[in-house]
Amino acid sequence: MHHNQKPEQFSRRILPPCKLRETINRTIMTSSDNGKVFLITGASTGIGRSTAIQAVEAGWRVVVAARSSEKLTALVDELGAGRAMAVACDVADWEQQARMVQQTLDRFGRIDAVFANAGFSKGSSFIEGKHKPEEWRDMVMTNLFGAAATARLTLPELIKTKGHFLVTGSVVGRITSVRNLYSATKWAVTGMAQAIRNEVANAGVRVTLVQPGVVNTPFWDQLQLPDAPALLPDDVARSVLFAVSQPPHVDVNEILIRPTGQAH
Ligand SMILES: NC(=O)c1ccc[n+]([C@@H]2O[C@H](COP(=O)([O-])OP(=O)(O)OC[C@H]3O[C@@H](n4cnc5c(N)ncnc54)[C@H](OP(=O)(O)O)[C@@H]3O)[C@@H](O)[C@H]2O)c1
Repeated sequence: MHHNQKPEQFSRRILPPCKLRETINRTIMTSSDNGKVFLITGASTGIGRSTAIQAVEAGWRVVVAARSSEKLTALVDELGAGRAMAVACDVADWEQQARMVQQTLDRFGRIDAVFANAGFSKGSSFIEGKHKPEEWRDMVMTNLFGAAATARLTLPELIKTKGHFLVTGSVVGRITSVRNLYSATKWAVTGMAQAIRNEVANAGVRVTLVQPGVVNTPFWDQLQLPDAPALLPDDVARSVLFAVSQPPHVDVNEILIRPTGQAH
Protein backbone atom coordinates (compact mmCIF):
# COMPACT_ATOMS: atom_id res chain seq x y z
CA MET A 1 0.00 0.00 0.00
CA HIS A 2 1.36 3.41 -0.86
CA HIS A 3 1.71 5.69 2.13
CA ASN A 4 -0.54 8.32 0.60
CA GLN A 5 -3.28 5.78 -0.10
CA LYS A 6 -6.31 5.97 2.20
CA PRO A 7 -7.13 2.66 3.91
CA GLU A 8 -10.53 2.43 2.25
CA GLN A 9 -8.88 2.53 -1.17
CA PHE A 10 -6.91 -0.60 -0.35
CA SER A 11 -8.86 -3.61 -1.51
CA ARG A 12 -8.43 -6.70 0.65
CA ARG A 13 -9.85 -8.90 -2.05
CA ILE A 14 -7.55 -11.58 -3.44
CA LEU A 15 -4.54 -9.97 -5.10
CA PRO A 16 -2.33 -11.54 -7.76
CA PRO A 17 0.96 -12.86 -6.28
CA CYS A 18 3.06 -10.03 -7.76
CA LYS A 19 0.81 -7.45 -6.06
CA LEU A 20 0.82 -9.46 -2.88
CA ARG A 21 4.61 -9.38 -2.73
CA GLU A 22 4.49 -5.57 -2.85
CA THR A 23 2.31 -5.58 0.23
CA ILE A 24 4.75 -7.65 2.25
CA ASN A 25 7.95 -5.85 1.26
CA ARG A 26 8.85 -3.56 4.08
CA THR A 27 11.74 -2.51 6.22
CA ILE A 28 12.23 -4.75 9.19
CA MET A 29 12.57 -2.74 12.40
CA THR A 30 14.18 -5.11 14.87
CA SER A 31 13.65 -4.53 18.57
CA SER A 32 16.11 -5.75 21.17
CA ASP A 33 16.62 -9.50 21.45
CA ASN A 34 14.18 -11.04 23.95
CA GLY A 35 16.40 -14.15 24.15
CA LYS A 36 13.57 -16.42 23.02
CA VAL A 37 13.43 -18.78 20.07
CA PHE A 38 10.44 -19.21 17.77
CA LEU A 39 10.32 -22.15 15.35
CA ILE A 40 7.91 -21.67 12.44
CA THR A 41 7.03 -24.29 9.81
CA GLY A 42 5.59 -23.22 6.48
CA ALA A 43 7.63 -20.04 6.77
CA SER A 44 8.77 -19.62 3.14
CA THR A 45 5.61 -17.70 2.14
CA GLY A 46 2.29 -16.41 3.41
CA ILE A 47 1.26 -16.52 7.05
CA GLY A 48 4.44 -18.25 8.28
CA ARG A 49 6.70 -15.77 6.52
CA SER A 50 4.81 -12.76 7.87
CA THR A 51 4.87 -14.27 11.35
CA ALA A 52 8.65 -14.73 11.16
CA ILE A 53 9.09 -11.09 10.14
CA GLN A 54 6.84 -9.79 12.92
CA ALA A 55 8.47 -12.09 15.46
CA VAL A 56 11.94 -10.74 14.65
CA GLU A 57 10.55 -7.22 14.82
CA ALA A 58 9.24 -8.08 18.30
CA GLY A 59 12.63 -9.35 19.49
CA TRP A 60 12.45 -13.11 18.90
CA ARG A 61 15.07 -15.27 17.25
CA VAL A 62 13.42 -17.37 14.57
CA VAL A 63 13.96 -20.67 12.82
CA VAL A 64 12.12 -20.68 9.51
CA ALA A 65 11.32 -24.06 7.98
CA ALA A 66 9.75 -25.16 4.69
CA ARG A 67 10.79 -27.11 1.59
CA SER A 68 11.86 -24.10 -0.55
CA SER A 69 15.34 -23.43 0.73
CA GLU A 70 16.00 -20.54 -1.67
CA LYS A 71 13.01 -18.60 -0.36
CA LEU A 72 14.06 -19.33 3.22
CA THR A 73 17.62 -18.17 2.56
CA ALA A 74 16.31 -14.93 1.06
CA LEU A 75 14.10 -14.46 4.11
CA VAL A 76 17.01 -15.00 6.49
CA ASP A 77 19.04 -12.44 4.51
CA GLU A 78 16.18 -10.01 5.08
CA LEU A 79 15.82 -10.84 8.77
CA GLY A 80 19.54 -10.92 9.51
CA ALA A 81 21.48 -14.14 10.07
CA GLY A 82 22.17 -13.15 13.69
CA ARG A 83 18.50 -13.53 14.52
CA ALA A 84 17.28 -16.11 12.03
CA MET A 85 18.12 -19.53 10.68
CA ALA A 86 16.66 -21.38 7.69
CA VAL A 87 16.02 -25.12 7.77
CA ALA A 88 14.90 -26.98 4.65
CA CYS A 89 12.34 -29.47 5.87
CA ASP A 90 9.41 -31.44 4.51
CA VAL A 91 7.13 -31.73 7.53
CA ALA A 92 5.61 -34.93 6.14
CA ASP A 93 8.96 -36.59 6.89
CA TRP A 94 9.55 -37.40 10.57
CA GLU A 95 13.36 -37.64 10.20
CA GLN A 96 13.59 -34.25 8.51
CA GLN A 97 11.56 -32.70 11.33
CA ALA A 98 13.75 -34.39 13.93
CA ARG A 99 16.78 -32.82 12.21
CA MET A 100 15.00 -29.44 12.14
CA VAL A 101 14.53 -29.57 15.91
CA GLN A 102 18.12 -30.70 16.48
CA GLN A 103 19.50 -27.92 14.26
CA THR A 104 17.41 -25.40 16.21
CA LEU A 105 18.82 -26.63 19.51
CA ASP A 106 22.37 -26.78 18.13
CA ARG A 107 22.15 -23.17 17.01
CA PHE A 108 20.04 -21.52 19.72
CA GLY A 109 19.96 -24.03 22.60
CA ARG A 110 16.25 -23.67 23.39
CA ILE A 111 12.77 -23.45 21.89
CA ASP A 112 10.18 -21.10 23.39
CA ALA A 113 7.44 -21.03 20.78
CA VAL A 114 6.51 -23.27 17.88
CA PHE A 115 4.09 -22.45 15.08
CA ALA A 116 3.04 -25.63 13.23
CA ASN A 117 1.76 -23.78 10.21
CA ALA A 118 2.83 -25.73 7.08
CA GLY A 119 -0.16 -26.80 5.04
CA PHE A 120 -1.91 -26.74 1.69
CA SER A 121 -5.11 -27.73 -0.06
CA LYS A 122 -5.12 -30.03 -3.07
CA GLY A 123 -7.23 -32.74 -4.58
CA SER A 124 -10.68 -33.05 -6.02
CA SER A 125 -14.01 -32.91 -4.25
CA PHE A 126 -15.67 -36.11 -3.00
CA ILE A 127 -17.94 -36.39 -6.04
CA GLU A 128 -16.06 -35.07 -9.06
CA GLY A 129 -12.74 -34.02 -10.54
CA LYS A 130 -9.64 -35.99 -11.42
CA HIS A 131 -9.01 -39.06 -9.33
CA LYS A 132 -5.67 -38.24 -7.64
CA PRO A 133 -5.55 -40.11 -4.34
CA GLU A 134 -1.83 -39.31 -3.91
CA GLU A 135 -2.74 -35.62 -3.52
CA TRP A 136 -5.07 -36.48 -0.65
CA ARG A 137 -2.32 -38.58 0.93
CA ASP A 138 0.25 -35.76 0.64
CA MET A 139 -2.23 -33.31 2.13
CA VAL A 140 -3.04 -35.52 5.12
CA MET A 141 0.66 -36.17 5.66
CA THR A 142 1.48 -32.46 5.66
CA ASN A 143 -1.55 -30.87 7.32
CA LEU A 144 -2.19 -33.53 9.95
CA PHE A 145 0.75 -35.91 10.37
CA GLY A 146 3.19 -33.01 9.83
CA ALA A 147 1.62 -30.86 12.55
CA ALA A 148 1.41 -33.86 14.90
CA ALA A 149 5.07 -34.66 14.33
CA THR A 150 6.00 -31.03 14.96
CA ALA A 151 4.14 -31.25 18.26
CA ARG A 152 5.68 -34.55 19.34
CA LEU A 153 9.21 -33.45 18.48
CA THR A 154 9.03 -29.98 20.04
CA LEU A 155 6.74 -30.33 23.09
CA PRO A 156 9.48 -31.86 25.29
CA GLU A 157 11.52 -28.68 24.63
CA LEU A 158 8.49 -26.44 25.23
CA ILE A 159 7.87 -28.15 28.56
CA LYS A 160 11.43 -27.19 29.59
CA THR A 161 10.85 -23.52 28.73
CA LYS A 162 7.13 -23.37 29.69
CA GLY A 163 6.70 -22.36 26.10
CA HIS A 164 3.91 -21.97 23.60
CA PHE A 165 2.63 -24.29 20.84
CA LEU A 166 0.54 -22.79 18.05
CA VAL A 167 -1.01 -24.55 15.09
CA THR A 168 -2.80 -23.27 12.01
CA GLY A 169 -6.25 -24.72 11.62
CA SER A 170 -8.88 -22.96 9.57
CA VAL A 171 -12.41 -21.62 9.58
CA VAL A 172 -13.16 -24.81 7.62
CA GLY A 173 -11.92 -26.74 10.67
CA ARG A 174 -14.97 -25.57 12.61
CA ILE A 175 -17.75 -25.16 10.05
CA THR A 176 -18.98 -27.68 7.51
CA SER A 177 -17.62 -26.73 4.15
CA VAL A 178 -18.21 -27.53 0.52
CA ARG A 179 -14.49 -27.98 0.05
CA ASN A 180 -12.71 -31.32 -0.16
CA LEU A 181 -10.77 -33.46 2.30
CA TYR A 182 -8.75 -30.33 3.16
CA SER A 183 -11.45 -29.24 5.57
CA ALA A 184 -11.34 -32.64 7.28
CA THR A 185 -7.58 -32.24 7.86
CA LYS A 186 -8.34 -28.92 9.55
CA TRP A 187 -11.14 -30.44 11.69
CA ALA A 188 -8.52 -32.94 12.80
CA VAL A 189 -6.14 -30.09 13.64
CA THR A 190 -8.90 -28.54 15.78
CA GLY A 191 -9.20 -31.76 17.75
CA MET A 192 -5.45 -32.18 17.98
CA ALA A 193 -4.96 -28.73 19.47
CA GLN A 194 -7.38 -29.59 22.28
CA ALA A 195 -5.80 -33.01 22.78
CA ILE A 196 -2.35 -31.40 23.08
CA ARG A 197 -3.67 -28.84 25.57
CA ASN A 198 -5.11 -31.67 27.67
CA GLU A 199 -1.64 -33.18 27.90
CA VAL A 200 0.53 -30.11 28.42
CA ALA A 201 -1.62 -27.58 30.29
CA ASN A 202 -0.37 -28.78 33.68
CA ALA A 203 3.21 -28.35 32.50
CA GLY A 204 2.63 -24.64 31.90
CA VAL A 205 2.71 -24.91 28.11
CA ARG A 206 0.18 -22.78 26.26
CA VAL A 207 -1.59 -23.99 23.12
CA THR A 208 -3.18 -21.73 20.52
CA LEU A 209 -5.28 -22.85 17.58
CA VAL A 210 -5.26 -20.20 14.84
CA GLN A 211 -8.26 -20.47 12.53
CA PRO A 212 -8.09 -18.03 9.62
CA GLY A 213 -10.76 -17.35 7.05
CA VAL A 214 -9.63 -16.47 3.54
CA VAL A 215 -6.09 -15.08 3.54
CA ASN A 216 -4.45 -13.71 0.42
CA THR A 217 -1.38 -15.95 0.13
CA PRO A 218 0.18 -18.31 -2.43
CA PHE A 219 -2.12 -20.97 -0.88
CA TRP A 220 -4.62 -19.88 -3.53
CA ASP A 221 -2.22 -20.01 -6.50
CA GLN A 222 -3.40 -23.45 -7.63
CA LEU A 223 -7.01 -23.12 -6.47
CA GLN A 224 -10.06 -21.33 -7.71
CA LEU A 225 -9.98 -17.94 -6.06
CA PRO A 226 -13.11 -17.14 -4.11
CA ASP A 227 -14.76 -13.89 -5.11
CA ALA A 228 -14.62 -12.75 -1.53
CA PRO A 229 -12.79 -10.37 0.77
CA ALA A 230 -9.47 -11.61 2.10
CA LEU A 231 -7.11 -11.03 4.99
CA LEU A 232 -3.44 -10.32 4.41
CA PRO A 233 -0.85 -12.66 5.94
CA ASP A 234 0.22 -9.81 8.22
CA ASP A 235 -3.27 -9.74 9.73
CA VAL A 236 -2.96 -13.36 10.87
CA ALA A 237 0.65 -12.84 11.97
CA ARG A 238 -0.50 -10.02 14.29
CA SER A 239 -2.90 -12.41 15.99
CA VAL A 240 -0.09 -14.93 16.47
CA LEU A 241 2.12 -12.25 18.01
CA PHE A 242 -0.81 -11.22 20.23
CA ALA A 243 -1.05 -14.77 21.58
CA VAL A 244 2.67 -15.20 22.25
CA SER A 245 3.04 -11.80 23.89
CA GLN A 246 0.55 -12.46 26.70
CA PRO A 247 1.82 -12.93 30.27
CA PRO A 248 2.51 -16.56 31.29
CA HIS A 249 -0.84 -17.02 33.08
CA VAL A 250 -2.84 -16.19 29.92
CA ASP A 251 -3.45 -19.04 27.47
CA VAL A 252 -5.15 -17.76 24.32
CA ASN A 253 -6.83 -21.02 23.25
CA GLU A 254 -8.31 -20.14 19.88
CA ILE A 255 -8.11 -17.30 17.42
CA LEU A 256 -10.84 -17.29 14.78
CA ILE A 257 -10.12 -14.51 12.33
CA ARG A 258 -12.10 -13.76 9.17
CA PRO A 259 -11.88 -10.84 6.79
CA THR A 260 -14.68 -8.38 7.28
CA GLY A 261 -17.43 -9.48 4.94
CA GLN A 262 -16.74 -13.22 5.02
CA ALA A 263 -19.94 -14.65 6.46
CA HIS A 264 -19.06 -18.36 6.71
N1 LIG B 1 -4.68 -18.78 2.81
C1 LIG B 1 -5.83 -19.10 3.38
O1 LIG B 1 -6.91 -18.65 2.95
C2 LIG B 1 -5.85 -20.02 4.59
C3 LIG B 1 -7.00 -20.08 5.36
C4 LIG B 1 -7.03 -20.90 6.48
C5 LIG B 1 -5.93 -21.64 6.82
N2 LIG B 1 -4.80 -21.57 6.04
C6 LIG B 1 -3.65 -22.38 6.46
O2 LIG B 1 -2.58 -21.49 6.74
C7 LIG B 1 -1.35 -22.20 6.67
C8 LIG B 1 -0.35 -21.37 5.90
O3 LIG B 1 -0.84 -21.21 4.59
P1 LIG B 1 -0.71 -19.85 3.77
O4 LIG B 1 -2.08 -19.35 3.53
O5 LIG B 1 0.28 -18.95 4.40
O6 LIG B 1 -0.21 -20.43 2.37
P2 LIG B 1 1.22 -20.50 1.69
O7 LIG B 1 1.73 -19.12 1.46
O8 LIG B 1 1.05 -21.42 0.53
O9 LIG B 1 2.14 -21.15 2.81
C9 LIG B 1 2.20 -22.52 3.04
C10 LIG B 1 3.55 -22.81 3.63
O10 LIG B 1 3.62 -24.20 3.96
C11 LIG B 1 4.80 -24.73 3.39
N3 LIG B 1 4.62 -26.16 3.15
C12 LIG B 1 3.68 -26.77 2.41
N4 LIG B 1 3.86 -28.09 2.42
C13 LIG B 1 4.95 -28.32 3.22
C14 LIG B 1 5.64 -29.48 3.63
N5 LIG B 1 5.26 -30.71 3.24
N6 LIG B 1 6.71 -29.34 4.45
C15 LIG B 1 7.11 -28.11 4.86
N7 LIG B 1 6.48 -26.99 4.49
C16 LIG B 1 5.42 -27.09 3.68
C17 LIG B 1 5.05 -23.91 2.16
O11 LIG B 1 6.42 -23.88 1.80
P3 LIG B 1 7.17 -24.86 0.77
O12 LIG B 1 6.26 -25.03 -0.40
O13 LIG B 1 8.40 -24.10 0.51
O14 LIG B 1 7.41 -26.12 1.52
C18 LIG B 1 4.68 -22.53 2.67
O15 LIG B 1 5.77 -21.98 3.39
C19 LIG B 1 -1.67 -23.55 6.04
O16 LIG B 1 -1.74 -24.52 7.06
C20 LIG B 1 -3.06 -23.33 5.44
O17 LIG B 1 -3.78 -24.53 5.36
C21 LIG B 1 -4.73 -20.77 4.95
